[in-house]
Amino acid sequence: MKSVVVAVGGSLLRPEVEERESWLKDLCAMVKDQISSKIRLGIVVGGGNPARESIQLVKPIINDVMALDRIGISATRLNASIIKEVLENSGISVSEKIPIDIPEAVNLMEQYDVVVMGGTIPGHTTDAVAINLAISTHSEKCIIATNVKKVYEEDPRNNKNALSFDILTTRELQKIVGPAEHSKAGASQVVDPIGVALAMDSDLILNILDGRKMDNIRNAVQGNVFEGTIVKGD
Ligand code: UTP
Repeated sequence: MKSVVVAVGGSLLRPEVEERESWLKDLCAMVKDQISSKIRLGIVVGGGNPARESIQLVKPIINDVMALDRIGISATRLNASIIKEVLENSGISVSEKIPIDIPEAVNLMEQYDVVVMGGTIPGHTTDAVAINLAISTHSEKCIIATNVKKVYEEDPRNNKNALSFDILTTRELQKIVGPAEHSKAGASQVVDPIGVALAMDSDLILNILDGRKMDNIRNAVQGNVFEGTIVKGD
């Protein structure tokens, strides 16, 4: 049975109220489609607003990046439990346990159609967790579902004329996101540079796309045409 890992940016859970409800329903339908196609899914959920807010709250008091990361990890696990409960409620065979590390997640992915998790340890973001899980489960690819359409040469919020890419090598992506370093808890980039370095080492294919459109995620998982950036090769 083939498997695919999807990193779901935490921001996808917190758009306008009506949209996020329909997004969660669409997520259930998409996951059911993949199970019918005999595709096993690992879903790694980001921290979004709860992570950002909680880190902001204690930043003036706590200086230690590892401590801030631990707070971020708690938020990712809160969001993971929201997704897990919603999937379970719609009748999907999802692991009851939310794994806290990669070996546990690999083990659960051998037993369930769907495993949902958040972060693991300080020092990276859930993108890196998803990429690590994809490598460890010999998954076909890792999908990074975020809230931008594609990878841009620079942040489109700062330069609205920034070029976007349909295809990149992993090395080109690494140049765009920078070296594999984790400096600030809660800092957001299109993909975690630590994850990009892992993907480069293991020659893992990444699909980076706008996860607000569920058909984009559905098509990428199935290997069909989607709107986003394909990252493969050195
Ligand atoms: P996210 O994965 O949501 O990172 O984890 P992000 O890139 O900052 O946010 P989005 O997804 O783009 O909205 C939130 C924070 O939790 C900590 C990091 O501080 C991260 O910035 N974290 C998360 C870890 O330290 N380890 C993990 O495995 C996951």
